Amino acid sequence: MKITIIGTGYVGLVTGTCFAQVGHRVICVDNDPAKVKLLQGGGMPIYEPGLEELVNSNVAAGRLRFSDSTREGVEQSDVIFIAVPTPPQADGSVDLSFIEGVAREIASNMTAYRIVVDKSTVPVKTGEKVTETIKRYSKGRVEFDVVSNPEFLREGFAVDDLMHPDRVVVGVSSERPVQAMREVYEPFKAPIIVTDISSAELIKHAANSFLALKISYINAISVVCEAAGANVQEVANGIGMDKRIGRQFLDASLGFGGSCFPKDLSAFIKIAEQLGYDFGLLKEVQRINSDQMARFVKKIASTLWVLKDKRIGVLGLAFKQNTDDVRMSPAIDLCQRLLKEGAVLRVHDPQAMEKARPLLPTVTYVGEMNEVAEGCDALIVATEWPEFKKLDLDRARRNMSHPIMFDGRNLFDPKEMERLGWIYKSIGR
Ligand code: UGA
Repeated sequence: MKITIIGTGYVGLVTGTCFAQVGHRVICVDNDPAKVKLLQGGGMPIYEPGLEELVNSNVAAGRLRFSDSTREGVEQSDVIFIAVPTPPQADGSVDLSFIEGVAREIASNMTAYRIVVDKSTVPVKTGEKVTETIKRYSKGRVEFDVVSNPEFLREGFAVDDLMHPDRVVVGVSSERPVQAMREVYEPFKAPIIVTDISSAELIKHAANSFLALKISYINAISVVCEAAGANVQEVANGIGMDKRIGRQFLDASLGFGGSCFPKDLSAFIKIAEQLGYDFGLLKEVQRINSDQMARFVKKIASTLWVLKDKRIGVLGLAFKQNTDDVRMSPAIDLCQRLLKEGAVLRVHDPQAMEKARPLLPTVTYVGEMNEVAEGCDALIVATEWPEFKKLDLDRARRNMSHPIMFDGRNLFDPKEMERLGWIYKSIGR
């Protein structure tokens, strides 16, 4: 099929590339000419495992190209995906101006029947607004269908999630676009759920909120475990083996972050409020998440007593493993809180140091993880990068004034750390 993706951010770029990989002809459009040029020249705007190779091979095979012209994208493809940002506003609601702008541009460039698919995360009823907008700006000249097709990929595992989805959700208001959507997704061999547009839109917010709820639930359990002297990982394993619960997203941490969960929770609470429902449960999910960070900082402060001028090593800046994304990163939040208290930070992240620099201009960036601990009063694990498990603990211990570690991701074994002579504090254990 001929497919255009408008918006070459995380979702747009990975989706377009994976569509090309299964044989579709794809144009990825972006209104940022610098980004388009970078991609045309073989550069990558983001770090995502496996993506660069896939982009290059599909460009070489002639199935994938980049353009800054929406007109070209709309003229040359049958199915147009919208994958532009839907950033949060101060009151928690979503800024839909990019979606509206793209809908208008599509409308004014459409000369024949097109399927316009929304992939961005949007509030329920956005599909109706997109339909109205396209009708208005195309002046009713051409036929079209609007489809809601939310994306469920995780950063850091995006290619794999896209190539092997658990399910594909297709929200439609008529039968006409269904066959084409099946053709788009047929190569992925995943179950396709065809539903109405509003339900499809709600599935996305309901899914992300539920996953965030799972994390806050285990984080709340971690507080009880700490008070009771129990181990949250044992509890997570024990409850997670019940298939109705499942073990995934039950890793206690210093809190969840990223460009999705915090934003989508606020948006969903706001959407419910506008529909007349006070979603108190999700407000509690938010509260537990912010308390979790506050509790972690308190743990550090009460152990080190005075934070001013304490030299602290921080492993991890990205909001999670396998990404260079620092948007709403708990690790960055933590560093900013420690800096505010006067601590002096030495930080390392395998991928995110460049993107962290503007947010943390006064810290020392260390290129090698085993050098972070040098002269430090404490070491913190803030991101669950698997390579941190291979830290040279002996060397770190020798290089520190006192071997103290605060592990916000439970990467190490408490008994083993104690045996190695560390004062080791983790989450819920
Ligand atoms: C999330 C969803 O998992 C995706 O399905 C969805 O498509 C995406 O949002 C989106 O809406 O675009 P993502 O934000 O990339 O994906 O990352 P996650 O793997 O969900 O992690 C989010 C945060 O939760 C991270 O800070 C992570 O460290 C934290 N987390 C995750 C935990 O603290 N504990 C866990 O058990 C799992």
